[in-house]
Amino acid sequence: MKPRLVRTILLVVVFLVMVAVPRWLPRWPWPRPAEPRPSSVRPLTAGEKEQFERGRLQFATICAACHQPNGQGLLGLAPSLVNSRWVQDDPRILARIVLNGKAQENLIMPPWKMMLNDGAIAEVLTFVRRSWGNEGDPVTAALVAEARRDTAAREQPLSDYDLETLVLTLPPRSN
Ligand code: HEC
Repeated sequence: MKPRLVRTILLVVVFLVMVAVPRWLPRWPWPRPAEPRPSSVRPLTAGEKEQFERGRLQFATICAACHQPNGQGLLGLAPSLVNSRWVQDDPRILARIVLNGKAQENLIMPPWKMMLNDGAIAEVLTFVRRSWGNEGDPVTAALVAEARRDTAAREQPLSDYDLETLVLTLPPRSN
């Protein structure tokens, strides 16, 4: 073989070992530590942050007694609000829960509609939906007002059955 050809082949081999192989290797599907998922949560606006901070206070004063300051609840007293389906999903249902209360066999949450106005409920829910790893969007006073109107005649706390029915019957969200 001509020395030039040998040199060319050597260069190609060196290139492969130093550049191509290290670039290609990481794509090999052997176990590698999972990369952190890029967060798709939209940051709060300045106004929403103020709402969130007022909600933090409301939560500490009213809700933390049962749901605990870390949101994780206490067995036999109140369920966790961390990763709760009702907290993170449709805010129209969440607002109804807080307005009217919720009950199952031995656990009852009282209704808050007599104590808290729409703005205060929107604040506390904005806080709960964005705390402890929850990733829900903020809640507006208008949304709470609508939920209040829709359940104005209601005197009983919601049951799990009521909530499942709402999931199936509420029209798609317009906002
Ligand atoms: C007196 C104790 C108590 C207080 C105070 C209280 N809760 Fe509750 N909460 C409960 C109980 C008990 C349940 C569960 C009821 C059930 O499952 O039927 C509950 C359920 C909930 C749920 C539904 C969670 C799920 O996954 O089922 C939400 C949301 C919630 N509470 C929010 C709040 C907010 C916001 C406040 C403050 C405004 C608050 N709670 C104050 C006792 C309380």
